[in-house]
Amino acid sequence: MLKQDLRPKPVAIFPASFDPVTNGHLDLVSRARAVFDDLIVAVAENPDKRGMFSVGERLEMLEAVIGRQPGVRIVSFEGLLVDYARAVGARVVIRGLRAVVDFEYEFEMALMNKHLYPDLETLFMMTSQEYLYVSASRVKELVRFGGNVEDFVPSLVAARLAEKLRRP
Ligand code: PNS
Repeated sequence: MLKQDLRPKPVAIFPASFDPVTNGHLDLVSRARAVFDDLIVAVAENPDKRGMFSVGERLEMLEAVIGRQPGVRIVSFEGLLVDYARAVGARVVIRGLRAVVDFEYEFEMALMNKHLYPDLETLFMMTSQEYLYVSASRVKELVRFGGNVEDFVPSLVAARLAEKLRRP
């Protein structure tokens, strides 16, 4: 007879700046959601890094494009990710890896988080091929120089980016 697994279902956090959310982020959200029943999409508030969008605007865009989905929470947090993870009982952090250049940064961050909270596992998902070169910073640069970003972000986000250019 199979033993019943009584371990609590893991809560996973997908933390990022989301300044703004891209199609690459959304791809990770849906793939992480397929694996974890309880996923927290968490916007990191960093007082030292002024983004193009306020944290409130980032949350609003995430809520609009992800919508209400069972098992997905959209939040922001201040301070260390490990402290937030402990507070909400999360044991898994999801991060995407695009190319080799991401690796060193992600590896160091995962090791530091592991040092600070040994029970926290960072799981990396390889970015889907079509999003390999998509990043929020590249999208912002494209917009600044008049490029079309419709292929890389949801249309609502593209509209907000265009609006920011007109009224920074
Ligand atoms: O989208 P980003 O900017 O690559 O995301 C980086 C993020 C937000 C995941 C990372 O900077 C973070 O976890 N910030 C919270 C503060 C923290 O815990 N810093 C120590 C990480 S070793």
